[in-house]
Amino acid sequence: MTTTPKTIITELLPERPQSIKTVGYGEAPVNIALIKYWGKRCASFNLPVTDSLSVTVPHTLSRTHIKVIDAHEDQIYLNQQKLETNTAFAKRLSNFLNYFRDDATPAFEIYTENTVATAAGLASSASGFAALVLALNDLFSWQLDDTAISILARLGSGSACRSLWPGFVHWQAGIRDDGLDSYAKPLHDTWPGLMLGLMVVEGSAKPISSREAMQLTTQTSPLYRAWPHTVQQHLNDLRQAIQSQDFEHFGRIAEQNALAMHATMLASSPSIDYRLPASWTVIQQVYQLRRDGIAVYFTQDAGPNIKLLFEVKDYQTIAAAFPAAAIQPLFD
Ligand code: PMV
Repeated sequence: MTTTPKTIITELLPERPQSIKTVGYGEAPVNIALIKYWGKRCASFNLPVTDSLSVTVPHTLSRTHIKVIDAHEDQIYLNQQKLETNTAFAKRLSNFLNYFRDDATPAFEIYTENTVATAAGLASSASGFAALVLALNDLFSWQLDDTAISILARLGSGSACRSLWPGFVHWQAGIRDDGLDSYAKPLHDTWPGLMLGLMVVEGSAKPISSREAMQLTTQTSPLYRAWPHTVQQHLNDLRQAIQSQDFEHFGRIAEQNALAMHATMLASSPSIDYRLPASWTVIQQVYQLRRDGIAVYFTQDAGPNIKLLFEVKDYQTIAAAFPAAAIQPLFD
C-alpha cells in the first residue's frame, strides 16, 4: 500500500469511535525561524531537507473555533470576514480538512482570528495550522500527544510543527519516508532580555509562495548544494550561543543563516528576491548601527519584512532608530 498523508493520519489517530463536541477550540503562537527550513525532501508530506530552529513570539496567536456542519462545503471566517471558497487560503484549509472528513463530518465551520501583530506582517500559516490541529484535537477528543500534534500540523504547513510551544523550538528533519520521525520539540533554554522588533515593509503581494520558491530553489539553485551543510553548522553554533547566552554570536549566526537562505534563492533560475528597496534600507540601517557599536541583527523569511534581534539593554536605541518597529520581548 502506498503511504499517503491520509494513511499517516489514520495511524496517528485513536482507534476508538470519535466523539464529536459541539465546538472545538485551539490557539497557537507565531514562530520565527532563526535557522530556516528551506527545501523539502517530500512535498506531499512537507518533509524538510534539514532540521530548523525557531523562537516563538509570545502573545501573538491564531485562535480557532471549529464545528461540524451539515453542508456541501466548508464555511471559513478569517478575522471575522467570510472567505470565498475559491480563495487560495480557503482552498488550502479545505484540502487539509479533507483528511479528517467522513460521512458524519461532511463539512466544517471555522472561525479563525489572528492577534494584532500577526495581521501586521508575521507569518500566520504556521500559527494558523497549529491552532487548527489543536481545535480538531479538541473537537474530536483525540487527546493526542505533542508529537502527534506536531506531525499533523506539519502536514498542513511545515513550519506549523514548531508553533506549539513558547521559547526555542527545534524541528528534527527525520529520515523516514512516512515522516513519523519529523516533528518539533521545545528546547528548555530561556533568554530573558531577548527582544524582537518587527519592521513591516509595505509592498504588493508576495511574488511567489514559499512552497513554489522552495521547489524552484532546490531544483535550480547551484548554491543549494551547500545549504544542508551550512544549516548543520549554523544549528550547532546557534545552540551553543543559546546555551552560553552569547548574544553577538547568536545574532551573527541567525543573520548569516537568513542571508544564506536568500542567497540560495537569488541564485535560482529564475531568481527569487523577496527584498524590496525598503527591506534593503532597514538592513543597511542595521549594518550602520553595528558599525556604531550596537548589537542588533536581523532575520528575514519568505517576504519583505525584516525582523530585528537585539537585547533589552539596547531597547531605547533601537526604538529611536526604528520608530515604526513593533517591539516585543521573546521571553516573559
Ligand atoms: O512552512 P512554510 O511552507 O510557510 O515555509 C516557511 C519558510 C520560512 O518561513 C522561510 C522558514 C521557516 O523555517 O519558517
